[in-house]
Amino acid sequence: MWNLWLFLVLTVGFLSWTVNSELINGDHEDLFTLVAIGKELKLLEWDENGLKNTSNYCFWPHITCSPTQSVEKLVLSHQTLQGNLTLLSELKSLKWLDLSYNTFHGSIPHSFGNLSHLEFLDLSYNKFDGSIPVELGQLKNLKSLNLSNNLLIGSIPNELQGLVKLQDLQLYTNHLNGSIPNWVGNLTNLRVFTAYENELRGKIPETLGAFSELLLLNLHSNYLQGSIPKSVFANGKLQFLVLTQNKLNGELPDSVGKCKDLSSIRIGDNDLIGNIPKEIGNLSSLTYFEADNNNLSGEIVKEFAQCSNLTLLNLASNGFSGIIPPVFGDMTNLQELIVSGNNLSGEIPASVLGNKNLNKIDLSNNRFNGSIPKNVCNSSRLQYLLLGQNSLVGEIPSEIGNCVKLLELQLGGNHLTGTIPPEIGRIKNLQIALNLSFNHLHGQLPPDLGKLDKLVSLDLSNNQLTGNIPSALKGMLSLIDVNFANNHLTGPIPTFAPFQKSPNSSFEKNTGLCGYPLNSFCGNSDGPESFHHKVSYRIVLAVIGSGLLVFLSVTIVVVLFMMREKQEKVAKTVGKEDEEIEDNNKPLVILGNVFVENLKQAIDFDAVVKATLKDSNKISSGTFSTIYKAEMPSGLTLSVKRLKSVDKTILHQQSKMIRELERLSNLCHDNLIRPIGFAIYDDVALLLHQFLPNGSLARFLHESSKEEAYKPDWPVRLSIAVGVAEGLAFLHHLAIIHLDISSGNIFLDSNFRPLVGEVEISKLLDPSRGTASISAVAGSFGYIPPEYAYTMQVTAPGNVYSFGVVLLEILTTRVPVDEEFGEGVDLVKWVQGAPTRGETPEQILDAKLSTVSFSWRKEMLSALKVALLCTDTTPAKRPKMKKVVEMLQEIITESK
Ligand SMILES: *[C@@H]1O[C@H](CO)[C@@H](O)[C@H](O)[C@H]1NC(C)=O
Ligand SMILES: *[C@@H]1O[C@H](CO)[C@@H](O)[C@H](O)[C@H]1NC(C)=O
Ligand SMILES: *[C@@H]1O[C@H](CO)[C@@H](O)[C@H](O)[C@H]1NC(C)=O
Ligand SMILES: *[C@@H]1O[C@H](CO)[C@@H](O)[C@H](O)[C@H]1NC(C)=O
Ligand SMILES: *[C@@H]1O[C@H](CO)[C@@H](O)[C@H](O)[C@H]1NC(C)=O
Ligand SMILES: *[C@@H]1O[C@H](CO)[C@@H](O)[C@H](O)[C@H]1NC(C)=O
Ligand SMILES: *[C@@H]1O[C@H](CO)[C@@H](O)[C@H](O)[C@H]1NC(C)=O
Ligand SMILES: *[C@@H]1O[C@H](CO)[C@@H](O)[C@H](O)[C@H]1NC(C)=O
Ligand SMILES: *[C@@H]1O[C@H](CO)[C@@H](O)[C@H](O)[C@H]1NC(C)=O
Repeated sequence: MWNLWLFLVLTVGFLSWTVNSELINGDHEDLFTLVAIGKELKLLEWDENGLKNTSNYCFWPHITCSPTQSVEKLVLSHQTLQGNLTLLSELKSLKWLDLSYNTFHGSIPHSFGNLSHLEFLDLSYNKFDGSIPVELGQLKNLKSLNLSNNLLIGSIPNELQGLVKLQDLQLYTNHLNGSIPNWVGNLTNLRVFTAYENELRGKIPETLGAFSELLLLNLHSNYLQGSIPKSVFANGKLQFLVLTQNKLNGELPDSVGKCKDLSSIRIGDNDLIGNIPKEIGNLSSLTYFEADNNNLSGEIVKEFAQCSNLTLLNLASNGFSGIIPPVFGDMTNLQELIVSGNNLSGEIPASVLGNKNLNKIDLSNNRFNGSIPKNVCNSSRLQYLLLGQNSLVGEIPSEIGNCVKLLELQLGGNHLTGTIPPEIGRIKNLQIALNLSFNHLHGQLPPDLGKLDKLVSLDLSNNQLTGNIPSALKGMLSLIDVNFANNHLTGPIPTFAPFQKSPNSSFEKNTGLCGYPLNSFCGNSDGPESFHHKVSYRIVLAVIGSGLLVFLSVTIVVVLFMMREKQEKVAKTVGKEDEEIEDNNKPLVILGNVFVENLKQAIDFDAVVKATLKDSNKISSGTFSTIYKAEMPSGLTLSVKRLKSVDKTILHQQSKMIRELERLSNLCHDNLIRPIGFAIYDDVALLLHQFLPNGSLARFLHESSKEEAYKPDWPVRLSIAVGVAEGLAFLHHLAIIHLDISSGNIFLDSNFRPLVGEVEISKLLDPSRGTASISAVAGSFGYIPPEYAYTMQVTAPGNVYSFGVVLLEILTTRVPVDEEFGEGVDLVKWVQGAPTRGETPEQILDAKLSTVSFSWRKEMLSALKVALLCTDTTPAKRPKMKKVVEMLQEIITESK
């Protein structure tokens, strides 16, 4: 008994002694380190807390301590921090270190190799450069290493093979080169491995996944060669496989059939050969299968039909032959079937058209024959029916009119006969294109085509159509591209802006068409005229023509504005309806993606859609879009941009848009908002962004100033101006012109760093192409440079002007258009008119700022000079954006 008692006393005593000494020790060491780190990283929160509550740093924000009071977890993500991180390695007990989403640069500190207890290290979304330090290989306890989205170079160091406990290795979006080391295949705990968007070459290790339960492998957009190793499927646990855009060859292994949970296979844009294994039918979870742009061949295996969850099947641009298996009609979840650019033949599979969820069927560029089935739109969801460049025969069935949801109808390049069924006019949603060219269609153009008031592109060329162009076609208000060439049409070309704006090649090679844009004048003259007549006609035409052009330009702008308003009204009423039906009839998201791997789980598309149906979630409304706040069930808050209806042309080419968005999501600049994903339903596109709680610059300048919290802070405003200028200079450097610069499109993060938004609109509506330049002319009222009114072309100097207006807003705290300025006077004219009104520049500037100090006033006057240069009436006199950045930065350095 005594012995036992004594033993207990001694043990307990010993334990408490150890705990106490560690407590004291840990206390002091970590405290000093933390105070020093706080200073280095300028973490004000720690300074304040440090002063108030010196002893107990375990209560400071971002810190979690062990029971023995040593710092175990440090989470400093999303803080826009920078500075020297070397000191962090003094926090010896650290198990969890998260520094993601900051602006740390330079190399990753070698001293991190000293953090021997570290299990989780996340340095992603920073600007670390240099190579991966070999010292990280000493972190024997590391389970998760994330270095993604940095500027790292060099190869993956061999020393990392010491990380035997590694489960997650994420290296995507860097500039890593060399090959993927073979030892990655020896990591027995590896579950997640991503290294996409690097410059990796060589083969995928033969044993990758063989010894571990690999769940996710994403290596897209590298230069990987060789075949897809069997080992990847060996464990049968794989869920996601993304190898798109490499140089992989060889066949897709049969063993793929082992992976019951595999839901996504994306192996497009490679050099794969051979057949798709029948075992694909064993993948009961398969949802996406994308293998376009390879050299796959053989028949399309009927076993796909066993994958009852298959939603997207894309086999475009390969060497497949044979027919589309009729059992594909059983795939009730199939939404997109894309097999264009193969050697497929046989009839259009009527059974597949019966799939009620089918949204897109693309059979173009094959050898399909037979006629278009009458049941073509029993599945009324169909939005894309693309059958061009085949050998289809027979007539276009009048049942085509049942396809009321169609956005695009491509039937060109076939052997279709008969007339154009007037029922086509019932497809009121048709907007992207109606293409019936290169067939044998005859008869007259049905006036019902005029009901297609959303249609952008109409191609009826190269048929045997006869009669007049009905003037009812003027109902096609959205028309931009039109082609009637090479038919037997006669009579005058109706006076309708989209017709006269077209090149004459759109009307040529017809028997008897006349009028502008053709050179044949619609007189009552018959027979050939004398040369003199022709010349005078031409002169008259040129004179009329130039007058007409001016008139047309004005009309188009007016029409566009009217259309925009009309469509906005429609959009509003539609929005209301949506709200009413919200719960029982939620729109179905047909396509969506999150580019940011780690946010994939946190984003729920249904919740995204739902948020945009509630007016109370609306944050702001710009020229091209409305922005909503969306709370995800996961707790994440997003900003969701709903594109306005006038921009449905964006949906024109979904795949192009998606590619652009993905590219933009990699377009990395501190002062640009990057898209993190998108969702598409019906004809609505939603773009997802990080939520910025401080709102827009417009709100900061014009709303918060009314509140009491208004703090006159010129340096913050100047740094905002520099940031915006840098963002725009970066865009211009990449030849991207912004379409809608305004203070409402500039957002502020928690540190008042400005982020320019609406960049993707600029990229998607490529202004170098005719379509965009016209609709983009509008911009936001007050920011539109004067020359846009007659050039109708968006330009870089135009952007400089709009930036100048933003700078004037910052300097004057006034809105760009204000009744106070007087009739027809906007902010620019008001500022320019100051001298004639006998006012000094100081009377223009916001006095709350300019009277604070002499140096603030001096800086503001210098900035005013820059703003005046930017808003010069002559575009050529405005400085380049890069020069603007320099001039503004000079103001900052001069005052230091
Ligand atoms: C200071 O630390 C104590 C624990 O030691 C904690 O209860 C208290 O809330 C902290 N005070 C402040 C102001 O953070
Ligand atoms: C960071 O600080 C350490 C000393 O704490 C120093 O050795 C190192 O050179 C610094 N790194 C940089 C990039 O300044
Ligand atoms: C920490 O790491 C550095 C660089 O790897 C090394 O020189 C130093 O000795 C280490 N310090 C300790 C205390 O282990
Ligand atoms: C980095 O990767 C780890 C492991 O996969 C993950 O838990 C973490 O969320 C990632 N961090 C970011 C910012 O995506
Ligand atoms: C990898 O990149 C580094 C730095 O850019 C370069 O020095 C090296 O030669 C490259 N290695 C290979 C194998 O391309
Ligand atoms: C992988 O492990 C096996 C045996 O465990 C060993 O023979 C082989 O050398 C290892 N490969 C690499 C690249 O480390
Ligand atoms: C996998 O598919 C093959 C070929 O379709 C079939 O013979 C086999 O029974 C399937 N295996 C399993 C486990 O379902
Ligand atoms: C098909 O998808 C649904 C919904 O995602 C899921 O519940 C179901 O388990 C899937 N079916 C198979 C066979 O995986
Ligand atoms: C595609 O594969 C076929 C054989 O299946 C081969 O003859 C052809 O050269 C390949 N084409 C390319 C571009 O690799």
